[in-house]
Amino acid sequence: MDESNGISPSEKLTDTIEKQLKVENDIQDIYDEVLAQGSDKFPTLHRKAHLKYTGLFLHRELPSAMYKLDASHPWIIYWLLNAHLLLGGTTEDKMGEEVARVILSYIYETDRYQGISGGYGQLPHLASTYAGIMSLALVGDEKWYAKLNRTKIYTFLVSLKLENGSFRMVQGGESDCRATYCALCVASILGILDEKLIKGTAEWFARCQTYEGGFGGEPGDEAHGGYTFCALAGLCILAPPSRIAQIIDIPTLVRWTCNRQYAIEGGLSGRTNKLVDGCYSHWVGGMSALLECVSGYGQVVNRTGLQNYILCCCQAQPFGLIDKPGCNPDFYHTNYVLCGLSMCQHFQVYNEKLGEKEGYAFGYQQIRINDDTIIDNLEANRVLPLDPIFGLPAGYSRTMRDYFRD
Ligand code: FPP
Ligand code: ZN
Repeated sequence: MDESNGISPSEKLTDTIEKQLKVENDIQDIYDEVLAQGSDKFPTLHRKAHLKYTGLFLHRELPSAMYKLDASHPWIIYWLLNAHLLLGGTTEDKMGEEVARVILSYIYETDRYQGISGGYGQLPHLASTYAGIMSLALVGDEKWYAKLNRTKIYTFLVSLKLENGSFRMVQGGESDCRATYCALCVASILGILDEKLIKGTAEWFARCQTYEGGFGGEPGDEAHGGYTFCALAGLCILAPPSRIAQIIDIPTLVRWTCNRQYAIEGGLSGRTNKLVDGCYSHWVGGMSALLECVSGYGQVVNRTGLQNYILCCCQAQPFGLIDKPGCNPDFYHTNYVLCGLSMCQHFQVYNEKLGEKEGYAFGYQQIRINDDTIIDNLEANRVLPLDPIFGLPAGYSRTMRDYFRD
């Protein structure tokens, strides 16, 4: 018998099961070692090191080996700056201005519409428009907000809207929950969300919910954490919790979400029979925090288990955050693992009055968890509260929204 898993070597294992068992064994070894060292040696957040990583790449040109990211410049900036701020970093030394100037140089404008492209001289795309506008929100300076033309951005969004309620990423491109979420975030933060833009959208999201309970990229697709996040966060922009609960099947979504957390790893997977991955700490974790609010259930994800996975298994040497042990750090995982860490440390609460007055997305508030039975309360591990709907630290979306208030 295999000692750790109780499976006889003669039993035929699938590739999926073998990979899962290997990850479980590797992570069990890490936890055994941590426990053997004693609680005073428990891993903490390597804040200074991760700030060095985000600061380094925010300030310099990327190495040519990263040419594949050439259409993702606004994303790189958003991931790095968001992670930097979550860790307690600032935009001093002209960092904010540098970021804003680069994002604004990617604006693509005609006499009718305006969007943000993935890199200099490229066509506008909804994903880079989302990442670019969130980056400007993070810079938080009205001088740069003023360069956005809301009327033209509205026309751009309308041009990507489909009859069925969803949005395309780009003219002639794919329509899915990601594109629809990006369109709603942009419209909501700029204050241009109107009936025409959202007609049929909530119902279209509801059609993406599968028999498992999570949401697929479009109706009929397999449930996946990334798309489930986009669907629920998108619905939180469109409707208050009480209405969302009438549109989608909450109990099956709760069950699907609970099933994303693995007992040994403590971290989350993105879909059934797939491996744990640090980035789902946000896609599934952030979504679960909204789901707690919408459903009225207690904790849907075990925050202690997830924070343990993040601190013990997702920190690379010398810096950066990762998918799972053995992976290399990258900007995407650095941001979304830290977003997930923030989720572990806060609850989302919905303030109905605020939501009715400011727009549903702005009714969510973050409450710091101070209960040692839920997470350890070490100050060293603390990151800023995150507003999961926009994927920004608390307050940034509100500042931009207030600037654009009519
Ligand atoms: C599967 O990857 C990944 C997807 C099918 C897409 C995931 C979608 C997101 C992360 C949402 C993106 C959101 C925005 C706003 C652009 P995989 O098969 O490599 O991973 P898996 O094995 O974990 O399923
Ligand atoms: Zn990942």
